[in-house]
Amino acid sequence: MPTITLQPSGHSYECPTGAPILKTGLDAGLFMPYSCRSGVCNTCRGKVVKGKVDFGPVHPKYLSEEDKAKGYALLCCATPLEDLVIEVTEIDAGDAIRSKYMPARILRAEKVAPDVMLVRVGLPMNEPLVFRAGQYVEFIRKDGSRRSYSIANPPTNNGVRQLELHVRLTPGGQFTDYVFNKMQVRDIHRIEIPLGSFFLREKSDKPIVMLASGTGFAPIKSIIEYSLRKGFTRPITLYWGGRRREDIYMRELAEGWAKTHPHITFIPVLSEPAASDKWTGRTGFVHQAVMQDFPDMSGLEVYACGSPVVIDSARRDFAANCKLPEAAFYADAFLTTADKAA
Ligand code: FES
Repeated sequence: MPTITLQPSGHSYECPTGAPILKTGLDAGLFMPYSCRSGVCNTCRGKVVKGKVDFGPVHPKYLSEEDKAKGYALLCCATPLEDLVIEVTEIDAGDAIRSKYMPARILRAEKVAPDVMLVRVGLPMNEPLVFRAGQYVEFIRKDGSRRSYSIANPPTNNGVRQLELHVRLTPGGQFTDYVFNKMQVRDIHRIEIPLGSFFLREKSDKPIVMLASGTGFAPIKSIIEYSLRKGFTRPITLYWGGRRREDIYMRELAEGWAKTHPHITFIPVLSEPAASDKWTGRTGFVHQAVMQDFPDMSGLEVYACGSPVVIDSARRDFAANCKLPEAAFYADAFLTTADKAA
């Protein structure tokens, strides 16, 4: 069975031929970075410096032939063909939290926009949940399929007993159809939590740009509320993009942060405002608004969350045009059923 050795840590584990390198590493107890686990967000990217790898079903948009030739691989999709040595930035053991399975009960739901439902979920009273602000939960359906949602409330020292989730109605999405049309208070689900490596790197003191599209605001909300609770004052500039005014569904909350905290700036950006929106704010693509304001991002950290197209454009353009170091871009891409099928 091939052995995978990670550098620079020197951690190693066995991974059967044909098994995903990331999942096998996580199962072996290592803390490797990941988010979508579907070959889209690039969070799990590593560089194979020794050995042959099968790159797996990765779209060329997310891993080019040129990148493959340099040895880059998306470890959620790649499988080993022989022993491998891979360069990857592992997560600090102090930041890592092992996920667990538990039941979760629907407590209440409230529509905060025509296509966004705010859902509150209760966790077992004897299992307060410790997580990092920005992480996500997976709902495991009866057929074994999973649906991921970011946690929108902040963690607390003693753990939380409730989750706040922002669920967007997506065409053809069976789970969102359930949430919008069939969900009942007290419904019980099986969940795995907490997941993902999209969370605030607290050891850094670099100014932060946060970029949210649509319900990508949820984990950003968790991170900002957590950082306010902790008294952090690192400068944060939050850009929240949507098509219409109603897509910025918690605008007052974000404006309130900016009003009461001088280190926070909030900039909503609409791409297709209607006349009825009476919009006088910024317009265009949200990641381009960031580039206009920060032509040099070499000293920043970016936390971006939302649709794959926004995340992908931001990662590419920030690095190519604004000098953002690759390692300073943290992302969480929301994949719909349609994205996964594509
Ligand atoms: S976790 Fe591998 S590309 Fe997102």
